[in-house]
Amino acid sequence: MEDLRNKYIEAIAAAADEPALEELRVQAVGKKGEVSLKMRELGKMTPEERQVAGPALNALKDEINSALAAKKAALADAALDARLKTEWLDVTLPGRNRRQGTIHPVSQVMDEVTAIFADMGFAVAEGPQIETDWYNFDALNIPGHHPARAEMDTFYTHRAEGDNRPPHVLRTHTSPVQIRTMEKTGAPIRIICPGRVYRADYDQTHTPMFHQVEGLALGKDISMANLKWVLEEFFSAFFGTHVETRFRASHFPFTEPSAEVDIQCSWEGGTVKVGEGDDWLEVLGSGMVHPKVLEAGGIDPNEYQGFAFGMGIDRIAMLKYGIPDLRAFFDSDLRWLRHYGFAPLDQPTLHGGLSR
Ligand code: DAH
Repeated sequence: MEDLRNKYIEAIAAAADEPALEELRVQAVGKKGEVSLKMRELGKMTPEERQVAGPALNALKDEINSALAAKKAALADAALDARLKTEWLDVTLPGRNRRQGTIHPVSQVMDEVTAIFADMGFAVAEGPQIETDWYNFDALNIPGHHPARAEMDTFYTHRAEGDNRPPHVLRTHTSPVQIRTMEKTGAPIRIICPGRVYRADYDQTHTPMFHQVEGLALGKDISMANLKWVLEEFFSAFFGTHVETRFRASHFPFTEPSAEVDIQCSWEGGTVKVGEGDDWLEVLGSGMVHPKVLEAGGIDPNEYQGFAFGMGIDRIAMLKYGIPDLRAFFDSDLRWLRHYGFAPLDQPTLHGGLSR
């Protein structure tokens, strides 16, 4: 009996897990276990023998059962300890910041421009970036021989050999959207068209792709005076301070008369400040839409007239936010984007503020 006891008490102490423990329980005190079989032998014993062996076997059974229970509890404790160790968490550590993306200054300024013009009743219109010659030039009164075509450093698409149709162009300005909108909605019209434009040009202030916003307002009695008010209103809202504008007589094929518009600025301290000083900075082209352009868009110039303007978005973004090099706009350098980018959830509005 002593051998039996030692065998099981040692095996239980050494059991590695619960299944091993269960196997030992069956072997020792299960129905056909060693201790149970010994108990069955009690019947064959003399009463004297039985009086000694009976309590001893019962005691052995109890001892093995409590060793099993104790080991089972110990295994469960160890398992819990191991789990606690792997799931340890220092709740006093500071939280990990998730990097948030930023809004590109061009997108930000497009949203700001849109908010300001929306407040004056202008809707947003869009057109394709790959245009036909006709929308980009002819319809805007820029015929084939016109020097403006050459000046624009146009990108042409490639046609397969033997395909004699004129090539498409990457639009050199947002002005073709004027024509598309006239065709689509007819007059009256009050729209702005922000978007990408393309010219083969590259230096500190020119990139082959850049952004413009076109404006177009057509009605029965829209005049240059309306144009001046709208632009002054726009620049003052955009720069957050009253901005004087200067209209200089100019020439564009699609407007008559035409004016280039400068905004008031100062260069004091080597940096440009809009809305103060007595220097001028050219920011856009504008004028009264040429009758031929209205006709190309299917609008009767005897009934309707209006103004148009075109302005560089990247340019006014650089001015407002003090960004020196245009090329960096399109380098996708994360450090630049984090520095000049805007908070993604701050939608520019006139009442809530255009930017933070
Ligand atoms: N399309 C011109 C350009 O890209 C800008 C422009 C000038 C647009 C006068 C206009 C306008 O609508 O009236 O240089």
